[in-house]
Amino acid sequence: MIRFIKNVVVPNLILVLLIAVGCTNKASEKKADLQSTVASNDQMLAMTPPMGWNSWNPFGENVSERVIKETADAMAGSGLKDVGFSYIVIDDIWQGGRDSITGLLYPDPKRFPSGIKALADYVHSKGLKLGIYSDAGTLTCGDRPGSFGYEEKDARLFAEWGVDYLKYDYCYCVDYVSSNNDYKMAIARYKTMGDALKSTGRPIIFSICEWGPRGPWLWGKEVGGHMWRTSYDVADFWDRPRNESSPIGILTSIDVVSNLDRFAGPGGWNDPDMLVVGLNNTGFIKGGGCNEIEYRTQMSMWCILAAPLMMGCDVRNMNEVTKTILLNKDVIAIDQDALGKQGFRVYRKDGLEAFKKPLSGNRVAIAFLNRNSKDDKITLSYKDLELDTDVNYTVYDVWKHNSANQPKGTLSADMKSHECQVFVLSPVEK
Ligand code: GLA
Repeated sequence: MIRFIKNVVVPNLILVLLIAVGCTNKASEKKADLQSTVASNDQMLAMTPPMGWNSWNPFGENVSERVIKETADAMAGSGLKDVGFSYIVIDDIWQGGRDSITGLLYPDPKRFPSGIKALADYVHSKGLKLGIYSDAGTLTCGDRPGSFGYEEKDARLFAEWGVDYLKYDYCYCVDYVSSNNDYKMAIARYKTMGDALKSTGRPIIFSICEWGPRGPWLWGKEVGGHMWRTSYDVADFWDRPRNESSPIGILTSIDVVSNLDRFAGPGGWNDPDMLVVGLNNTGFIKGGGCNEIEYRTQMSMWCILAAPLMMGCDVRNMNEVTKTILLNKDVIAIDQDALGKQGFRVYRKDGLEAFKKPLSGNRVAIAFLNRNSKDDKITLSYKDLELDTDVNYTVYDVWKHNSANQPKGTLSADMKSHECQVFVLSPVEK
């Protein structure tokens, strides 16, 4: 009997105990996993500004599953993925409607015949991530069904589809065209969707698109946002102030966001809107087009201002100029620097400006911007640039990709009209 207990009962008891402990551990591991995923949705996502592509500028209402698949192929094949562009965002007008019985959103069956889940699988198979668009109102800006009243249902559906990013607009909210700017309503509506996304347990970037009037930089992070638009839509213009519902130019967007540096940082970024680089007055949003220098300036300034880099041209057909701009690793490294500081203006006189972005390793990026329609020269001392005058720096030009020879204690550049030149200054070890 004793032998039976020793040889059979005890080992089996131990086995049962081990299984039980294992199960409990697995269950608690699962729970811990879920908790850490939810926590990571908050804390670890967007530690640097998100990078990707958005369908609105080039395709607008003509976005389709074919376009998204071909864009995924192009991003994986052209080197864009390798330099960090990872999200492919389907903007507005993907929706076919909302089912009147189940209340579930469904995609336009003609343009998305295989459905969004299959599309997400395809995009994921290329090592990329999928984003989608909805709205905090009853309708989207393109008059498709919005998520108001359906936030949890929609968030769950997006998570089930495998969506990794949600751009959330503000059309058809009660005050969206009034001058009332009911920021409390905006906070409540964005929080409802932010909470719904979190409760799915899937890490999903939450991109707030309220355009700025209700100060989303003050509350965006609290409601679960990882980025928030700071101004109205940027069209393919160099300079254009807002006029009622018309879009703005690159320069106007820079002027708004450059005053908001203190609100950006790892986990939550000011978003001056998508890049128009490479549009050349084609695509859906138009605007007149910018020249090569102006497109390069948009890329440079977006990087200095630690902006999300969401490309907005047809990346299936990029010309050499566009490729050189979008694939410049040196300028992207400034945007993606681990210190996570947005640059700020240190100098502004007669249309010439200087911006400074502190970088990791005690380095600093300096951008010179010529707003004028004539060429000019800028020379500033380290003191003007608020740099430590006791430190010697090596100076690297991120567009020429070489070290720049500069007179001691100053930085100087010949500037073409609308040009932006960017330098990385690294302290020389003594
Ligand atoms: C708003 C947004 C744009 C785009 C359109 C889609 O205007 O600001 O970026 O998403 O809606 O309708």
